[in-house]
Amino acid sequence: MEKFYLTTPIYYVNAPPHLGHAYADLAADVVARWRRGRGDKTFFLTGTDEHGAKIVRAAAGAGKPVEEFVALQRRKFQKLLTALNISNDAFIYTSSQARHWPGARAMWERLKNSGDLYKAKYKGLYCVGHEAFVTEKDLLGGKCADHNQEPEVIEEENYFFRLSKYASRIEDAVASDTLQILPVSRKNEVLAFLKEGISDISFSRPSRDISWGIPVPHDPEHTIYVWADALSNYISALGYGSPDDKNFTTFWPADLHIIGKDILRFHAIIWPGILFSSGLPLPKCLFVHGMILFGGQKMSKTLGNVADPFSLIERYGRDPFRFFLMREIPFGGDGDFTEERFALVYEGSLAHGLGNLVERVSRMVQKYFPRGLQKPTEDMLKTFPTKRKPGESIRLDVYFGEIAKRYENAMAKLELTQAITIIWDFFSYLDGYIQDYVPYSLFKKDPKGTEVVLWNLARSLRSSARLLEPFMPETASKIENIFIADGNRLTSKDHEPLFPSHKTG
Ligand code: MSP
Repeated sequence: MEKFYLTTPIYYVNAPPHLGHAYADLAADVVARWRRGRGDKTFFLTGTDEHGAKIVRAAAGAGKPVEEFVALQRRKFQKLLTALNISNDAFIYTSSQARHWPGARAMWERLKNSGDLYKAKYKGLYCVGHEAFVTEKDLLGGKCADHNQEPEVIEEENYFFRLSKYASRIEDAVASDTLQILPVSRKNEVLAFLKEGISDISFSRPSRDISWGIPVPHDPEHTIYVWADALSNYISALGYGSPDDKNFTTFWPADLHIIGKDILRFHAIIWPGILFSSGLPLPKCLFVHGMILFGGQKMSKTLGNVADPFSLIERYGRDPFRFFLMREIPFGGDGDFTEERFALVYEGSLAHGLGNLVERVSRMVQKYFPRGLQKPTEDMLKTFPTKRKPGESIRLDVYFGEIAKRYENAMAKLELTQAITIIWDFFSYLDGYIQDYVPYSLFKKDPKGTEVVLWNLARSLRSSARLLEPFMPETASKIENIFIADGNRLTSKDHEPLFPSHKTG
């Protein structure tokens, strides 16, 4: 049994979750469910990032004490996990003094013992949206190009982390895929960035300016920089730095960090630097997903163009929502979200696609074979082959085997959009199989043959439920309950439509 540890970013709680946050969790959930299905010992972590200037300001804006504010916001993120049917094994939040702080502080001590923290005066431009220092070249007309905000000039004494010391080791790790970065275009982006050279980075803020955070061990005049604090969640959640660190021993290094492209450098450069300095192994893979755009722009709380996942899930259902994000936003690239498109996909691929297919096959089985289908003999199974390509015909179950293999390959490469597309192509294929043999006309002439055709269809649908499970867990289990296998018999039951008509917004 292999272990598999995967994580999502931890989300800032300055505003309620939007579609973009649902996306990273969903992708990770698909991978986690697939891994568990293969029998891997899986640990799936997500959580919230609750410290820093951005959060303090949001709390002040809401007129609430910051602890109360973050607890309230955190519950919304947790509610989203439930609404989306996310199967995370743990949830970490950085304001937890019991669960997160010991790990973050232990990490700080390791950096210090390696001689990689030093104090220096610093003057720079700080973008609160990024929670990071930016340079003139990140600005457009004096404003941060991503957040449309002017950065603040900050001059103070900070602890610095000797990131430059690890530049060549980081570069080697990325170039050699010891730390694999997918898609490859993102790896090249990191390598190009590293070529420009990297400097040491400010790793603390004075507590008099930022007290909402973790105090630097033995120097409470300083607060650990929010990104150093946040990155350590991946180990603190496993018990690193705590008496009970058996999850850390079992699961570290991470097999997969799923992140958005907006936080690539933090994960591909700073995080490996921290780990090298701490003497810990690097994660094996970073998968960098794109952004969900809304009317062509990045969806973000700061810009205010966000789609509410709760309302969409309530009106269309959680599996359709999961389907839409995984199928329509190419995993690894950007995609645009509009409700019009969602409604079209719902009707096309779901209600009239899979929903209708299941419905037709189930009704035919019930009508012609109310006591169920008898498993055809091997010879019979050969008699109604699929006409996959002109001149080539194979048994439907053999064809399904090929589909399953292609699906497994895509999943192993994290080509999630490809994997779900493979399943949907198979469903269209089954529609074609119905057209080829027209079981409802065939029945009068050849009831035995009809039984073979329907067996093939019902069996294929039942088998594809297993492939569907990571993406649409509820739909998969409904399909398994509609086509019931009992030894050599397959029966079908009346059921509610899989994808009923939905309410528009
Ligand atoms: N708190 C930091 C991450 C710390 S990880 C150690 C942060 N939080 S965030 O809430 O601003 O964004 C986190 C992640 O949410 C992004 O990297 C991305 O995975 C997801 N998304 C946020 N907006 C998104 C879109 N518009 N589209 C897709 N994903 C988006 O950065």
